[in-house]
Amino acid sequence: MRFIGNKQNIIEKIYSLININNVKGKSFFDVFAGTSSVGKFLKKQGFAVYSSDLLYFSYVLQRAYIQNNSIPQFEKLLKELNFHSTSLFSTPLDLVIEFLNTNLNLTKEGFIYKNYTNGGTENNDIQRMFFTDENGQIIDSIRQTIELWKTNNLVSEDEYYILIACLIETVPFYANISGVYSAFHKKWDSRALKKLVLRPIEIITNNKNNQSFNINSLEIIDKINTDIIYLDPPYNHRQYAPNYHILETIAKYDNPNIKGVAGLRSYENQKSNFCNKENAYIELRKIATNAKYSSLILSYNNEGLMDSEIILDILKQFGKVQFIEFDYLRFKSNNHGINQDKKTIKEQLYILNKYE
Ligand SMILES: C[S@@+](CC[C@H](N)C(=O)[O-])C[C@H]1O[C@@H](n2cnc3c(N)ncnc32)[C@H](O)[C@@H]1O
Repeated sequence: MRFIGNKQNIIEKIYSLININNVKGKSFFDVFAGTSSVGKFLKKQGFAVYSSDLLYFSYVLQRAYIQNNSIPQFEKLLKELNFHSTSLFSTPLDLVIEFLNTNLNLTKEGFIYKNYTNGGTENNDIQRMFFTDENGQIIDSIRQTIELWKTNNLVSEDEYYILIACLIETVPFYANISGVYSAFHKKWDSRALKKLVLRPIEIITNNKNNQSFNINSLEIIDKINTDIIYLDPPYNHRQYAPNYHILETIAKYDNPNIKGVAGLRSYENQKSNFCNKENAYIELRKIATNAKYSSLILSYNNEGLMDSEIILDILKQFGKVQFIEFDYLRFKSNNHGINQDKKTIKEQLYILNKYE
């Protein structure tokens, strides 16, 4: 998924760096989980994984990828639907996805259609173009169907989160945006014009007791005892919640009050202290002091709010610290989003092995 700070492309490198720097253990806490890409990777390596994030749509992904530990069978639902696949090799999840892709009655009564499409907002002061009319209706119909299945006890809790996670992973491929939901394009991007087809997510199992949370991680940091804690906090002033507000609303589907050109929901309780320089140092010190760990890994970059000398000063009070920097090429839009400039930033890794 396109998500600021997603570590999907560098988690293998991070993992090899922590391995050669004497980080050992069997349990891992992904304290700022985001897309879950780090937790997923560590779960595959056999770690017992804990994860947490302020965002509810992140929690949905964590529940589906991290906490769920079995291949969903959808027994009750498939019996009720009496639906048969056109393919011989479909898994139960594939089958449910195929049903949702082929058997929906589209509705114009959903929150996404009414607030984030051209048709739904045509009589409003602000007309929004986040999704085509058809895709807005498809998103609502899928989301409402999943909720109905849950209300009618046709899906288990794990199956419910897996289906919403499929929708959350699919939607960004059809959104008429540059990557974040704080603005939409004034002309249609060709990707957004394609009809939305729901995609299944990867199911990962590892026989460990993995657990996910939707909470300010600072509130649980002293209650979870793991060998390794991994910190990948926000790097700058930009809060995550407003940038991903539509994914949050699709996940919660709670008819929020929205405002402004982008139709933002309120995010009062989802602000991160890491988006302010002075508070970020305080939070980092709190985590290093109160968390229960043998090794602490911090991902950051050279454009972040916190200075590396001060980070090192804080971490060195607790044990031996390795500081590693490596180049990471990313694309950065210019002011008008027209050209894409290649920009190399330095990805930073702080590895603290605590004194006994
Ligand atoms: C840089 S992103 C993490 C990216 C993630 N490692 C990935 O690969 O997708 C930072 C995340 O921290 C979350 N966050 C910020 N402050 C938090 C806090 N105090 N407690 C829990 N989550 C927080 C944000 O919502 C965001 O998802």
